[in-house]
Amino acid sequence: MTREWWRDAVVYQIYPRSFQDSNGDGIGDLEGIIRRLDYLNDGTETSLGVDAIWLSPTFPSPMKDFGYDVSDYNGVHPDFGTMETMDRLIAECHARGIKLLLDWVPNHTSDRHPWFIESASSLENPKRDWYFWRSAKPDGGLPNNWRSVFGGPAWTLSEETGQFYLHSFLKEQPDLNWRNPEVERAMHDVLRFWFERGIDGFRIDVMGMILKHPELADNPVNPRWRPGDRERSSQIWLNNRNYPDVFGAVKRIRRVFDEYPEKTAVGEVFGTAEEISAYYGDDREPGLHLAFNFQFIHEIEPWHTPWDAEIMKRIVRDAERAIPAGSQPCFAFGNHDRMRFITRHNEDGRGVERARAAAIVLMGLRNTPFVYYGEEIGMEDVEIPEEQLQDPARLRTFGRDPERTPMQWDATPSRGFSEAEPWLPYGRADRNVDEQFADDGSLLSLYRAAIWLRKRTASLREGAYRELESLDGTWLFERGATGAAAAAYVALNTTGHAVRVAVPSPGTVALATLRSEEGRRVGQHIDLEPLGAAMVIADGERSILGR
Ligand code: GLC
Ligand code: CA
Repeated sequence: MTREWWRDAVVYQIYPRSFQDSNGDGIGDLEGIIRRLDYLNDGTETSLGVDAIWLSPTFPSPMKDFGYDVSDYNGVHPDFGTMETMDRLIAECHARGIKLLLDWVPNHTSDRHPWFIESASSLENPKRDWYFWRSAKPDGGLPNNWRSVFGGPAWTLSEETGQFYLHSFLKEQPDLNWRNPEVERAMHDVLRFWFERGIDGFRIDVMGMILKHPELADNPVNPRWRPGDRERSSQIWLNNRNYPDVFGAVKRIRRVFDEYPEKTAVGEVFGTAEEISAYYGDDREPGLHLAFNFQFIHEIEPWHTPWDAEIMKRIVRDAERAIPAGSQPCFAFGNHDRMRFITRHNEDGRGVERARAAAIVLMGLRNTPFVYYGEEIGMEDVEIPEEQLQDPARLRTFGRDPERTPMQWDATPSRGFSEAEPWLPYGRADRNVDEQFADDGSLLSLYRAAIWLRKRTASLREGAYRELESLDGTWLFERGATGAAAAAYVALNTTGHAVRVAVPSPGTVALATLRSEEGRRVGQHIDLEPLGAAMVIADGERSILGR
């Protein structure tokens, strides 16, 4: 059996509104992405070298949640282009060996989707049961106590019939009823539609919420919640997230993927290592190919995971222990919903140093790494004046505009992004592709080197993960075939002082945050700068270092 492509891939997430504008309306589009594909992978080591792209939603949408409110699953939003542009993007990606993943939003539609408009129109409408409609409780109260992810109750009254409908996110995003077989069939057909057009797979939005408690039973109160915490955390999401029935639906989704060769599913899921692992399926039947593990970003809301070797070791240990044999984790340090990496780890102004180490760790781990656009050049959250804010989620909870600002291609006033006023303001001019491209010391060069090293090094792509003994505040792991001598070592220092980490066998530094270390012979230890990281290729594997 040939090895599945997603096992060896590095995936790059594009937020389409913010990557490249091609028609001067200040909004990124598919044509713009086509123009920038060579940056992502032109087959040579001057390009970033990513193997796949995931596009956040590109479908027709009223854009209340910037595309996560879909009004037609089988089209392209005019802001982004046409079906013809999408077909060309697919072809241009494939011509470069790049796989293209779209973003499937199965939990909810837009309230402007024809299905919901019909469903809302009368109690007897044939699509009434496609969504969740309930009357108020006898005492006039809401049908249950569920809160929406963005804050506020998860129920809104519809004037047309005097009943409430369920929305786990904005009120413009009504939840679909996946217990209705017609809904399931219609949503499976969406996958087939895009597979026929050549899409290679999907990132699946809020996978863990599509099946809820059959009676929509109340959620228990969270005893650990304190005033000031996020409102949604005031209850334990027992009956509407990771509810056991969801795993059956996941397996049925997988069967649709398996109707076509090489189609790949990666789910947005939340929970413990065990809960994440359950999405991969079980002995009897496979589930998703990949399920995100976001624990490097946050484990417990609302706190960010600190940049701390001990915590990171534990996260990987748990993930490796829980994941089914033959599956691999999928880590990310950022996405369109979370503060950018540097901003998150910049309390002492040293976020950039940590970002360099993160690139080495992410490419060194046993996983399918996901990189959010702009992380490779160290983009930071942009402070946005109140009148320019866009994300409606901010009105109830946290806003996500600061991490969605346009990609910075150069230092000009237009950043190489758009001739027009961009939909969100630009960040600081000195973080851009143009300046970092040819600079060997840049974050971009480090990312590029890490991605290409991984591509050339079988043990980094396929080898088992083993944690080794190391000092507090450091993390040392090896990668290599099970039972064989280690082929690669990865060492991380999260402390503010230089450290020396002992390695069991000699090799050569292949990659380091301090780039001048690369090529240095390593006997019994690796020296790491404060907040530094390095990757060592053991002697047996040295051939791969030569290009
Ligand atoms: C996911 C998306 C987020 C969106 C939400 C509702 O969490 O990543 O951007 O707002 O789902 O679709
Ligand atoms: Ca445009």
